[in-house]
Amino acid sequence: MKLMDSHVGGASRSCSVLVLLLLLHRSLIATALGQQSDGALTVLENTGGGVGGEEEEEVTVDDDDADVEVLQPTEQWQTLAPGQAVPAGSHVRLNLQTGKREVRLGEEQLKYWTQEHRELEKSAAPINPDELKKAMKKIKEDLKSQDPVASKFRPLEELKKDMAELDLLVETDVQIMRRLLDQFNSSSTTTEQRLNILQELEYLVHQVDNAQTLCSMGGLSLILEGLNSSDVRLQENSAFVLGSAVSSNPVVQVQAVEGGALQTLLATLATTQPLNVKKKVLFAMACLLRHFPYAQRHFLSNGGLQILSELFRADVGGILQTRIVTMLYDMISEKELISQAGLDHVQNPSHEERLRQYSEVSLQDELMEKGWCSLVPQLLQSTEHDYREKALRALLAMASVCLDQYRSDGSLLGSLHSLRLQYSELIQSEMILGEETSYFTEMMELIDTLQVKGELAPGLE
Ligand SMILES: *[C@@H]1O[C@H](CO)[C@@H](O)[C@H](O)[C@H]1NC(C)=O
Ligand SMILES: *[C@@H]1O[C@H](CO)[C@@H](O)[C@H](O)[C@H]1NC(C)=O
Repeated sequence: MKLMDSHVGGASRSCSVLVLLLLLHRSLIATALGQQSDGALTVLENTGGGVGGEEEEEVTVDDDDADVEVLQPTEQWQTLAPGQAVPAGSHVRLNLQTGKREVRLGEEQLKYWTQEHRELEKSAAPINPDELKKAMKKIKEDLKSQDPVASKFRPLEELKKDMAELDLLVETDVQIMRRLLDQFNSSSTTTEQRLNILQELEYLVHQVDNAQTLCSMGGLSLILEGLNSSDVRLQENSAFVLGSAVSSNPVVQVQAVEGGALQTLLATLATTQPLNVKKKVLFAMACLLRHFPYAQRHFLSNGGLQILSELFRADVGGILQTRIVTMLYDMISEKELISQAGLDHVQNPSHEERLRQYSEVSLQDELMEKGWCSLVPQLLQSTEHDYREKALRALLAMASVCLDQYRSDGSLLGSLHSLRLQYSELIQSEMILGEETSYFTEMMELIDTLQVKGELAPGLE
């Protein structure tokens, strides 16, 4: 939730008057109950004498006193006359020399009381004093109508009422998204503004409900249009919103696929794009396919693996390669986990349906046919441990269909051999230094498993 943007003209002013009134209302009640209300607004009555610094404050509800004067505090201390009121957040003190109450802006107010504000205030009267007076009078009447015992319970009731009224001033996520989408859809909106809107949406759609609401508002088609845009920044940010919206959100995943997201993502990947766009599009693709066999099947039948292999071959830094390999690995392992879990779920119909859907995803065979058994090993040449790890895990996951190719892949055998040497040295030197060895040991284990599994170790040939 967000407070409404209050930098626009008259509406904002009536907003702040309302807030102020609510605060006035609240602190008056607090004061009436004899609580200290140091920073908050107080209605002060000259209690006569007063020298001596007693901090007692009292509201005298005076029948004749219909007019309440509101003193607007400044940075300087000002003397409060009897019966004068000050806005909430003001700093009130008792001057021990004069016995008079003094007021100035509170700390919070001072912090934001910049030159800019001062000029704004000059041009636009901050608060309508008549409205304030009316409100104060109303509050006094309310207070009078309470019997003393009942008034003890008043604050809670008041608080609830105030909260309900405050809610009216707070924009809900739904309202924010409606506003953002309308702005995004407007022809007068600039690219910069659209980028900001996408960033705000990306933040909002992390909440499952918000992402679904965005769909029902028709936001998905706007996002897909953004993905199709000729502006690469719009493409990148639209892909980011899409990925975050579908991430772990089956309802949105289904709607996105129905809305053509898969084809748009594939088309974007297939055309030449800057790295940043590709990264985000891959992210969105991975989120869309995750745990969604229906989408995976269509990804395969739409030539997804072909498009990815072109991306893989063209990538020099290994960043895209790693992301692609990770995505493929995730897809293979989620299918395997489902089939393994099958033993425990024999009677579960939805599980059988999942199994059936996954059985239609012929990922492994396609991977072999499209040349991935020899593509993934290339990632082992990276200098990044993390990238190599992703490659090793994917190689293991693909072993059931790729083993024959691994055995005849001289470059892969050479990589495994030299990586094994390198990691055993790293483990050695870590042991000498007495450091944690877990990560390199893990890498070593991955290599060993792969070598044993595929009989790839030099000694076993
Ligand atoms: C965008 O505007 C068009 C017409 O101006 C409207 O038909 C469409 O529903 C709007 N889309 C959204 C998501 O608000
Ligand atoms: C994206 O553009 C392609 C052709 O350039 C078009 O066929 C497709 O419908 C567009 N998608 C959206 C969501 O606008």
